[in-house]
Amino acid sequence: MTDQWIPPSQKRRGHNLAALGIPSGRYPLPDATEYLTTPEGNREGAARVDAWVRREADLDSLQPAETEFLRQHFLRCVEEQRQKSIAYFETKVPRRYLSARPNPVAAAWAQAVVANPDDTRSLLVVGPTGTGKTHYAYAVLRAIAETGAATGWAAYTAADLYAQLRPRAGRDSEATFESIAGSDVLFVDDLAAAKLTEWTEEVTYRLINHRYEQCRPAIFTSNVPPTQLRDVLGERIASRLTEMCERVALKGDDRRKGMAA
Ligand SMILES: Nc1ncnc2c1ncn2[C@@H]1O[C@H](COP(=O)(O)OP(=O)(O)OP(=O)(O)O)[C@@H](O)[C@H]1O
Ligand SMILES: [Mg+2]
Repeated sequence: MTDQWIPPSQKRRGHNLAALGIPSGRYPLPDATEYLTTPEGNREGAARVDAWVRREADLDSLQPAETEFLRQHFLRCVEEQRQKSIAYFETKVPRRYLSARPNPVAAAWAQAVVANPDDTRSLLVVGPTGTGKTHYAYAVLRAIAETGAATGWAAYTAADLYAQLRPRAGRDSEATFESIAGSDVLFVDDLAAAKLTEWTEEVTYRLINHRYEQCRPAIFTSNVPPTQLRDVLGERIASRLTEMCERVALKGDDRRKGMAA
């Protein structure tokens, strides 16, 4: 079978949501007849909206009130998606980090990930015990939810990740690996908290290498000082982390000490 050449004039056009100021995503399309219920609604306008919905006309062919009708429809969809993403986040986040809120830097990273998932460096959050690394990472995940984009995420401590991936009778650990490695945004907490064995090093390498090769964003935390990452994680992993990650260094005392009653 040969590919058929389709003249540009006959190609199906996508909906230009950016021109409406709407972030790209999959949203339900409006019902053009609803335009009739708006103050400016009329049959000709509804027909033009319908032509746009069916991708038979560009935004240029619409009157301002019709464009505004579309914009308001998609703004409602974005808000609905945002509420759903936040509700999902709040059911999944560990209770302790439910109150974590992003600072402007974390929020900017989330915006970048949503806009350019393949072109945003991952995050490596480092700092001594109790400085707020896990808190920071969950705040970033909340920021992603708050954008309203349909960006999925998965969060694991490294120890839980190894437990999930350990080969077990009756379980396809390779399928589990693929589903974890393929998450839109992957958060691995406490990398190198325990000394790596040959097996955990191999799993960590495969996972990080997958994200590295596919240019997919991830968030890693570790309390291993950056100068010791090579010794603890090995050359192959540390080298990839250095290239693919922006480092966020948290400083200060162990916050848990201040919280003790
Ligand atoms: N910015 C913050 N505002 C308020 N509380 C915070 C903040 N950052 C961290 N905390 C709180 O401080 C405690 C320690 O934070 P967290 O668990 O994130 O530390 P950590 O660096 O991940 O520690 P570890 O290295 O042991 O994993 C938690 O109770 C957390 O909720
Ligand atoms: Mg932590």
